[in-house]
Amino acid sequence: MTERWTPESWRNKPIQQVPAYGDAAALSDIERQLAGFPPLVFAGEARKLKKQLAKVAAGEAFLLQGGDCAESFAEHSADNIRDFFRVFLQMAVVLTFAGSCPVVKVGRIAGQFAKPRSAPTETVDGVELPSYRGDIINHIDFTAEGRQADPHRQLKAYRQSAATLNLIRAFATGGYANLENAHRWMLGFVKDSPQASRYAELAERITETIDFMSAIGINPEQHQEMRVTDFYTSHEALLLGYEQAMTRVDSTSGEYYATSGHMLWIGDRTRQPDHAHVEFMRGVRNPIGVKCGPSLTPDGLLRLLEILDPENDAGRMTLICRFGADKVFDHLPTLVRAVKREGRNVVWSCDPMHGNTIKAASGYKTRPFDQIMQEVRNFFAVHQAEGTHAGGVHLEMTGSNVTECTGGARALTDADLSDRYHTYCDPRLNADQALDIAFLTAELIKSERQGKVRRQTEAAE
Ligand code: PEP
Ligand code: CO
Repeated sequence: MTERWTPESWRNKPIQQVPAYGDAAALSDIERQLAGFPPLVFAGEARKLKKQLAKVAAGEAFLLQGGDCAESFAEHSADNIRDFFRVFLQMAVVLTFAGSCPVVKVGRIAGQFAKPRSAPTETVDGVELPSYRGDIINHIDFTAEGRQADPHRQLKAYRQSAATLNLIRAFATGGYANLENAHRWMLGFVKDSPQASRYAELAERITETIDFMSAIGINPEQHQEMRVTDFYTSHEALLLGYEQAMTRVDSTSGEYYATSGHMLWIGDRTRQPDHAHVEFMRGVRNPIGVKCGPSLTPDGLLRLLEILDPENDAGRMTLICRFGADKVFDHLPTLVRAVKREGRNVVWSCDPMHGNTIKAASGYKTRPFDQIMQEVRNFFAVHQAEGTHAGGVHLEMTGSNVTECTGGARALTDADLSDRYHTYCDPRLNADQALDIAFLTAELIKSERQGKVRRQTEAAE
């Protein structure tokens, strides 16, 4: 029999990746304050996202999820949010147009602050201090004071999330996302990139289509879907005290929802079925993700699905696969077959970032663009072979002109990394590289759809 779930039942389970807070009373006080604050997102929105993800699970839509590896307090500005949002819109347009299928847009934003680490401490020049765990927990600077876990940071993260979400909501619904603006979303530094003319061409075709539709009486004034866009937030649900404080009973359904973001995911390091993170997530009704890395077995995955989604509710589960380009064929086919055999409705998404991190000769942590793209290609190839839908991509990216991943259309090299290496954690695709990925992925979506049409025609003959 399953034990009763409560928002705090995770506290009785073993837990990984938990920060050491020095002052327990101060931590409880902050959690109490957070529990009284307004929700950041609403249950109805999370349900709407779940419905859209159910379409992805059914092979009728594509999921685009992306944003910073770690949001930071220092990089919080309107320009950064706008630049991210517009490159994200551009990518969505590229993917929608190519696949003639709806794109579900989910940012790693407005809450993506807590980071799992491979070691609890870090040693520099013989000095050992706690590892940086994200701005919601401690400071990135390598000082004894900075690396102390400080509960007050949770209040700051909550407020930054609220401000970020406020601006995004305005962009998504206030006219900025109007398809008539598609040609204005080009970022300054992307304008002279190899993808710029491809994008400009696409924007021109959209303008022509809108003109044509206006001529026959269909225009953005009357059709809100041309004027506004649905955009959702997501983050790794790592800091469970914060997540618990932000969990509320929805008055419409009487069920619990995490209100810190629309979609939450469980990281690759915290997905032990009998541990705290899985326990917390099984009780909230939001759509959720699970990172699937090389150590996940088919039985392990089925067990997680049983716990997290006993009703096999389409849209509830997104499986975010991150094996490394060379390992996709070793792991993904067996997982796909097990899930298919059990008749489970899931979204299969590809995170081509976390299995392809290397240390460059310069010492920087980087990811080669070609490896990233190869993982996406291999992911599509497996789904094509298994007859399942390659449902989405999950990217670490920014709208800024950073130099963190090598390669891409501008062929960034190891020597370029030091120019603008700003990330607080893992290397992100810059706007150029992100748009590159969108064009290349669009081709793969197009092939998948053409294959499907071909199979249907053959079946009909
Ligand atoms: C992440 O998405 O930033 C992350 C830490 O991923 P993973 O849990 O897959 O390693
Ligand atoms: Co990361």
